[in-house]
Order: sequence, then C-alpha cells, then structure tokens
Amino acid sequence: MPLDYFIFVMITFLLTAAHCEETEVFAEAGSRAVLPCKCSPLYPFIPTILWSKANKGTVWRKERNGLQYWGYSWFQRVRCPNSRFEKGDFSLQINNVREGDGGVYSCRVEHGDQVVVKVVTLRVTEVSISSSVPVFGIGVWISCKVTPWPHGATVRWTLNNSPFVPQAGIAANRGTTENVVREKATARLTGNWTCVVDYKGKEGRASAALAVKGVIHPSKDDTKVYAAVGSAVTLPCVFSPSLIPSNPVWEKLKPGFLFKPAPGRLPTSFSSSFSQHPSDQSASLKEVGLEDEGRYRCSGSIAGQRLTRNMQLVVAKIHSSIPSKDTGSATLTCQLTDTSEVTDYEWVHVVYDLNGTRSVGSLQKGKSVSISRVSKENQGEWACRFYGRDGILGNITYHIQLMSGLSGQTSLGVSHNTAAMVGLSFLLLVLLLILAQMYKNHRRRKRIFQYPALETIVHTVSNEREERERKQVKN
Ligand SMILES: *[C@@H]1O[C@H](CO)[C@@H](O)[C@H](O)[C@H]1NC(C)=O
Ligand SMILES: *[C@@H]1O[C@H](CO)[C@@H](O)[C@H](O)[C@H]1NC(C)=O
Repeated sequence: MPLDYFIFVMITFLLTAAHCEETEVFAEAGSRAVLPCKCSPLYPFIPTILWSKANKGTVWRKERNGLQYWGYSWFQRVRCPNSRFEKGDFSLQINNVREGDGGVYSCRVEHGDQVVVKVVTLRVTEVSISSSVPVFGIGVWISCKVTPWPHGATVRWTLNNSPFVPQAGIAANRGTTENVVREKATARLTGNWTCVVDYKGKEGRASAALAVKGVIHPSKDDTKVYAAVGSAVTLPCVFSPSLIPSNPVWEKLKPGFLFKPAPGRLPTSFSSSFSQHPSDQSASLKEVGLEDEGRYRCSGSIAGQRLTRNMQLVVAKIHSSIPSKDTGSATLTCQLTDTSEVTDYEWVHVVYDLNGTRSVGSLQKGKSVSISRVSKENQGEWACRFYGRDGILGNITYHIQLMSGLSGQTSLGVSHNTAAMVGLSFLLLVLLLILAQMYKNHRRRKRIFQYPALETIVHTVSNEREERERKQVKN
C-alpha cells in the first residue's frame, strides 16, 4: 500500500504540477464519510472535477458540460452536492462506508490551466466482537479494525464512556490491522465498547455493544438471600431472556466447600422449575427452617458451556427471653445465620386498627428490643428489619398475642407454673392423706385403750360373781 500510495501521489503531482494537500479522514463502517476538497471560490464556471481512488480509478467525475459519471460499484453510494460548488467545496460524500472503501483518494479540480489536487486518506474504523452470543466464562475478543491501519497511532478503549483497563492487556497490533482486547466474558464486559484511535491530530472512533449472556439474576455469585423462619422464599436463577438452559440442576453445597454438593438432599419444601418461562430456573422453599441455611447452586448448560450461580440462604429468627426475675418485660433479639452484610437493625411495632388497616407504630434502633408484656399497647406484631449498605435486606415478625402471654419462652414459663401448681396440689393431697391417717391411728389407739377398761369391768364383775358362788358353796 505505501508504494501504491507513493506512486499514486507522484503521478497526481506530475500530472498537475499544482499545490497538493493531504488530509486524514476517519469514518466508522456503516456511516457516511465526507472527503474534503475545498478550493478558493474563484471560478465563474463549474470546473471539471475528478475524484479517484488509488488502484481503483475513477470514483466520480463531472465534465465541464455538467455530465456526471460514476465509477463501477460507486453509483448510488457516492455524491458530490452541486449546491456547494459555488463556495469552492467539492467534497465527496460516501454513504454506508465499507471496510474496502479505506484507502487514498484524490480530488482534482481543473479550471482552464488552474489545477488543484487534494489527497485524502480515508480510514474505515470498525469494532467487532468474536462471538454473537458471548456466554459467561468464555473468552471474548473485541477488536478494533482500521483500514488502512495508521502506523504509529495510539488506541484507547472505553466501555460505557469510561476508560477501560484490560486485565489481559491490549494485544500489540504489530503487523496486523487490528487492536484486540481479549477478556473472559463476565457481566463487567457488558456495555458499549468504543475504540478511539488518535493519529496525526485526528481522532477516529468505532463502537459496538456487547451483552454478555448468562445468569442475570442474581448477577453475582455468593449473593445472599434472606428469609425468616417459617416463611416462603424464592431462590432466584434467571438466565438472559434468549437463553434456554439445558439440564438445569439445583444443589445444596456442603458447608465449607465452595463447589462440593452436600451429601444430603435439598430441603423437603424445595421446589424448582415453577416458572412458565424456560429461562427462569428459580426455585422456592415453602417453609424455611433454620437448618435450610447455607449455600445453594443453580446451573444449566448453554451451547455446551456449563453456567453456574452460587447463592447463600440466610435465615432470620427471633429469640425471646424473659429475665429470671419476672418483671413483666421480655427481650426480643433478631438473629441471622449470617450477619456479614448486616449493618443495622430496627424494630417496629405493627398496629392494626379495627378495620384491619396496617400501620407502623414506634420504631427502635438496635438488634434487641425490650418490651413490657403486661402493657396492652405492645400487643400484636413486632417486626425486626435488618439493613445492609444498600438498604433493607429483609424483616421478620413476632406476634405477641395475650396480655402476659408471649409465645415461645413465655408459654414455656406458663407450663412451668402449671407444673408447680400441680406439684403443690399433690403435696397438699399427700399432707391431707397423712393427716387423715394420723387421725385414724389416733382413733384406733383410743379404741384399744377403751377395751382394757371394759375388761377390768368384766373382770371385776366375774370375780365378784365367783366370790359370791364360792361363799354359797361354803355355806
Ligand atoms: C373504618 O371504616 C369505616 C368505613 O369504611 C370508616 O368510617 C372508619 O373511619 C374506619 N375506621 C378507622 C379507624 O379507620
Ligand atoms: C416485611 O417484608 C415484607 C416483604 O418484603 C413487606 O411486605 C412487609 O411490609 C415488611 N414488614 C415490615 C414491618 O417492614
């Protein structure tokens, strides 16, 4: 090309012996390129104009008589607006520029013995992406092509209008006509890619949009999903709209192992594929238990590539405790199986009016709240809301139903009391029985003492009779 270019320029020079300028023009493929050719507006008549391309011959020509000619394959794409001729502007417009249009052009304006020649180098820029459906995890090439390549130019990349610093480094373009960014496809690569080429004070640009496909929700691994004990929860796993994963699988991961599935099966209330849409592989748990906390993984295959997403289910519960000296108060504590993302806790009292309209009452900061169990005002729902850096993560509610009756620990307290009452009654009964027995014994002993007296009487009576009989026998 440089040799062709040199010869072309030399011939143009020799033929015209006029002053000549060189201009650089960048145009993105598909756009309209304007190749400038401006002379001083001195001409009373329309001159002869010839636009030609190195090695390609005539692009467009206008004779003095006003007839226009187009070179082969240029018709319809090329025009030189008449309206600007009076101002000495003979710029050429090329619509829908293609890679093959890149090269050296010359504009030759001839008027009598006056000849003006302008040389314009058109460089066509284009950003192309290696794969039309870049799936997460695969290698992606984003290349900036400039035809012809401006040797010595500097190339910058921007992603969504901010400078992009490639992790793998930008490949050197030595001996090639491209500048390539090679990256592993991640969500971070999604957006509008622009390559900016700086050359001889001119700037060329080209852009392309890249949408990395895969699991879009949750967008990151190790996303935490919060659920209250006993509630239902959805574990999200949504693929990009056009993706239909084959062989989708849900697994619970063994604690401590990032990738090893747990030997135990998924929770009993676990169900997957409830969505109508094949790109939505979310799962649900009807009733979360404390033991369900931990890591889960959903996966599916796209074009032979296994895509996975790990997430963590964090379970929240409320612990209620009553001080040993029952002062009629209780302490409710918000407990989560993982608190690494929690920055704040807040307790609210939820009140319902007679019509069932829900409103939020008092608000207290902190992980624990101490409330009076005897106060009727505290009846109803108490909700613990927990917050992370980006706002609310979830909430859990606790019901206080009866005046002095909290569920959970309190009912346990009540059963303690019942046990004590039963025990006391039993003791009383035993005592009563003992007393009754003692009384009975006392009575019996009394009866035994009565008998000797009776015996003596009987005895004396019989003795007297015997004596009397003996006397009668003597007489
Ligand atoms: C309950 O509803 C009735 C009628 O819909 C209304 O007049 C009344 O003000 C409501 N009461 C409360 C406490 O909102
Ligand atoms: C708790 O969370 C649910 C679901 O996000 C919400 O509907 C409810 O209003 C929350 N309750 C409180 C007291 O914030």
